[in-house]
Amino acid sequence: MNKSPIFQQLIKLYHQQMVSFHTPGHKNGNIYNSLGYHDFKNNILNIDTTEIPFTDNLFSPMGCIKEAQHRAAEVFGSQETFFLVNGSTSGVYSMIMAATKPGDKIIIARNSHKSVINSVFLGDLDPIFLYPETDDHQGIAMGIDAESLDNLLFNNPDVKAVVITYPTYHGIACDLKKIAEITHKYDKILLVDEAHGAHLGLSNQLPATALECGADGVVQSTHKTLPAFTQSSMLHIQGDRIDREKLRFMLQLHQSSSPSYILMASLDMATMIYQTKGKDLMEKLLESIHYLQEKLLSIEGLHINDKSIIGNYQVKDIDITKLWISHKAKGITGPQLEEKLRSQYSIQLELSNIYGALAITTIGNNKRDFERLIIALQEISKEKGKAPVKEIPPISYKSPVQGCSFKKAIYHEKILIPLDECNGRISGEYLIPYPPGIPLIIPGEIIDKEVIKYIKLLRETGVEVLGPSDGNCQYINIVNT
Ligand SMILES: Cc1ncc(COP(=O)(O)O)c(C=O)c1O
Repeated sequence: MNKSPIFQQLIKLYHQQMVSFHTPGHKNGNIYNSLGYHDFKNNILNIDTTEIPFTDNLFSPMGCIKEAQHRAAEVFGSQETFFLVNGSTSGVYSMIMAATKPGDKIIIARNSHKSVINSVFLGDLDPIFLYPETDDHQGIAMGIDAESLDNLLFNNPDVKAVVITYPTYHGIACDLKKIAEITHKYDKILLVDEAHGAHLGLSNQLPATALECGADGVVQSTHKTLPAFTQSSMLHIQGDRIDREKLRFMLQLHQSSSPSYILMASLDMATMIYQTKGKDLMEKLLESIHYLQEKLLSIEGLHINDKSIIGNYQVKDIDITKLWISHKAKGITGPQLEEKLRSQYSIQLELSNIYGALAITTIGNNKRDFERLIIALQEISKEKGKAPVKEIPPISYKSPVQGCSFKKAIYHEKILIPLDECNGRISGEYLIPYPPGIPLIIPGEIIDKEVIKYIKLLRETGVEVLGPSDGNCQYINIVNT
């Protein structure tokens, strides 16, 4: 039997030398090789240490960690920056719980990552959801309407904070500056999940950073779009709306008491690369992206999201380093495209839905990677799928009625009942159609006839519904009240 299955599997994949258009941003360490930081790569095991004299302490930094965090604050434009070793997830939990107390109302964009929604559970919060627009032909969440936020804040003066994802996984940037102005007009706290935007400050061809837009707290997955190691993220704070002492407590609560020095050093290296070489590398990356767009523009049936969507669906700007590629018009689904690229061209993308697939490009990619992607997409464009890709009927999302708190729904006894019998019952689990990945139901919310009808329709169309323990959605775990 294989004695180290994970390691063996990862090495096997590494030897396939796939082109990486997925996270992490260092692209299999390529950026460290191309910039000549062999010293860092070769010393990974040597720097795996703990809190001993001269290594400092993440939770009361006074030495090298303090210095590195200060430099990151300067480089990323915050007043105070905290290194995170448990991913953006830990930063999201910490900033939300520092900005609120149990029972507080909070406005959350419904297309938020589960770490934001799970904060409702952890912090015992009372959420009000703000729905983004959706592009139903691409199956992706788009921008948030600032005016709708204004109305929500006007009608809910007791709200404590607003949480927005900016940019989205697919690179969509809403009008965050306007959202910040509105949030602050009502004297509320703006928290931004910028997990997919750590690189935005590297070019003015990219959307403005969340800090530039005026956010009070911002979490970035440095590992996703910059060359830090997986799980290494940063939390940036500006202004005095967030209680820093409470935040320090929350950061300890949500992170390991043995923070990895390898991860912290990778954040330090990512900051250094960002500061010293980031803008040049980003310029080269953007040149490659423009070259790819030019080469592929005239291909019939191939769609790549670009700046032309600005102004529609509440989209203020788009992060073009994220390439949303669709061969839907050729009858090729997203998963088929992803599979063809992997098996026939040794190119690995980040994810797909039935309509298209997402390539995450970073300053770790080089020109050759783009040449290979261009050739592969040109070749695939000559093919035709067996049948047109079936469009999923769109749903007009509306906030479901809350039956009990998220926490109660999780802890309470649950029973599995047939979907048809769920009308009026409180869900004990998530129901998230993918695409577009926006929760239809969150634990604690009441399932109504419309939801049942829509889930059945999704099942018939073959759309995946994430969340239920019964993957076929024939039975739903409901709260046994
Ligand atoms: C929008 C968003 N926020 C937060 C997270 C959590 O980030 P991390 O994986 O760094 O914990 C993710 C992860 O994919 C994400 O997509």
